Amino acid sequence: MRLGILVSGRGSNLEAILRADRPEIEPVVVISNRPAVRALDVAARHGIPAQVLRRADFGGDASARDAAIGRALGDAGVELAILAGYDQLLAPSYFAAFGGRTINIHPSLLPAHGGAGMLGLAVHRAVLESGDRETGATVHEVGAELDAGPVLSQVRVPVRPDDDAETLAARVLEAEHALLVATLERLTTSR
Ligand code: GRF
Repeated sequence: MRLGILVSGRGSNLEAILRADRPEIEPVVVISNRPAVRALDVAARHGIPAQVLRRADFGGDASARDAAIGRALGDAGVELAILAGYDQLLAPSYFAAFGGRTINIHPSLLPAHGGAGMLGLAVHRAVLESGDRETGATVHEVGAELDAGPVLSQVRVPVRPDDDAETLAARVLEAEHALLVATLERLTTSR
């Protein structure tokens, strides 16, 4: 299955996919909305072609940029696009331009702690503030709405009494890497 991976920063989920090195999972392009991020180094290290498509390159027009992302995925023959730490909402023009499936990974048990502003450590702070005794990660389909498409898979992670946002984030991140690879394997075999 030909994959396109959309990234914005660290790229540890991208790295987990590439390190898994499964013959049936074929990453063919990485697209970043930000230049000079670690995820681009990860792509280069593994010899995966990468493109940076910034809104500023399209005169600030997010819709035009997102259509270009969709076209770039189509041009690369991508069947499944993964938002792996991609930090912007995709405009309807993306979904019009890209005919394949798009999935996202989010570091909580959606629908809990998703939606606007729920990025990075903010998610884990919200979990700690809510007093939840478990959290986790979710892989879900992406449509035009944020963190809202049907859930494909989840993993549960305990919240420990001595956790702070950083320790919780680290434990969830490890679990989400395994969840993402397992979900991709499942999607390739159930095609
Ligand atoms: C991950 O926690 C992912 O669930 C969320 O953003 C983070 C990205 O991390 N959507 P990385 O860039 O894959 O390291």
